[in-house]
Amino acid sequence: MTTKPASVVTIERHIIEQERLHPEATGAFSNILYEIALAAKIISREVNKAGLVDILGGTESVNVHGEQVKKLDLYADEVIFKALDHGGLLCCLASEEHEHVLDIPPQFPTGKYVLLYDPLDGSSNIDANVSVGTIFSIHRKISDHPRGSLEDCLQAGRRQVAAGYVVYGSSTMLVYTTGAGVHGFTLDPSIGEFLLSHPNIRIPRPGQRIYSVNEGNWSRWSDGQRRFIDYLKGVDSRNDKPYSSRYIGSLVADFHRTLLYGGIFMYPADTKSPNGKLRLLYEAAPLALIAEQAGGRGTDGERDILDIQPESLHQRTPLYLGSRELVDLAGEYLARDRMEVPAGVGA
Ligand code: AHG
Ligand code: MN
Ligand code: MN
Repeated sequence: MTTKPASVVTIERHIIEQERLHPEATGAFSNILYEIALAAKIISREVNKAGLVDILGGTESVNVHGEQVKKLDLYADEVIFKALDHGGLLCCLASEEHEHVLDIPPQFPTGKYVLLYDPLDGSSNIDANVSVGTIFSIHRKISDHPRGSLEDCLQAGRRQVAAGYVVYGSSTMLVYTTGAGVHGFTLDPSIGEFLLSHPNIRIPRPGQRIYSVNEGNWSRWSDGQRRFIDYLKGVDSRNDKPYSSRYIGSLVADFHRTLLYGGIFMYPADTKSPNGKLRLLYEAAPLALIAEQAGGRGTDGERDILDIQPESLHQRTPLYLGSRELVDLAGEYLARDRMEVPAGVGA
């Protein structure tokens, strides 16, 4: 649980206070966070009136992953890009909605950071007025390319300088970490400010007994994954108190609940998606950093997400996020799959 702060702390004030923790900070990093907060306010306004204007529904286009692109996906993607393309803060960007690295337009200066983002997460739910979100990850530029490169994007999650998400739900919240804890801000639309509402978020221990996974994929799961779900359901005698199942189908909403209540979110590998469905760079890695900073953990069922070296911009990964004990227990069940495969059989 977090205690309500005594005074009104805007996200701008909080970012400045976080910047003071990094004496080498030049302010550019803080400006990136300001611009993301501004973009979030603009996206929130559109999401919250989506039902009233012709911004729902799909576009004719299909994105690089063969998925129908929703109008709000494109809108959110452009709002974020336009908020950050001109300030000389970034050397390049990468978005779920674009196959390749996004260059800073030539008329603008470049900076020393990289932004990776999922502009609208859970967009298949938007027409049903279910919570959706934005996820972002910030790295330092590491290449000597003057205007950024793929190399600057393909960095392990542990090198992130900041990560966060916005959840557009019953209220709009922005949650972020710069490596000094996890802090949540709630948008007060009457003044257009994100106000600190959840300082120093920690995943509760013991957390609520909640597991979150799309059980429709059961037939494609490994034996270990099925045995873990049976354990959580109390099907076997080792667990006499079944967990509750909660699955919204928007990663940001399912993760936000897991962060505040505890439990585990899973998107396992399966026979149809051997690397799972979710993206390493702009879904798994930022949320794994937040989970770890809040006392939890994020793995691919075996390795810490933050230790995985990305090889491509949109690579997928199985994902287990939440209470450390449950993520570790899932790993134990899955490890038995690996042990049962006789040496030399299968990849
Ligand atoms: P996005 O809308 O950015 O493509 O993400 C959708 C993801 C994620 O939000 C959610 O956890 C997952 O899709 C749900 O997938 P299933 O419908 O297969 O359960
Ligand atoms: Mn997503
Ligand atoms: Mn998306």
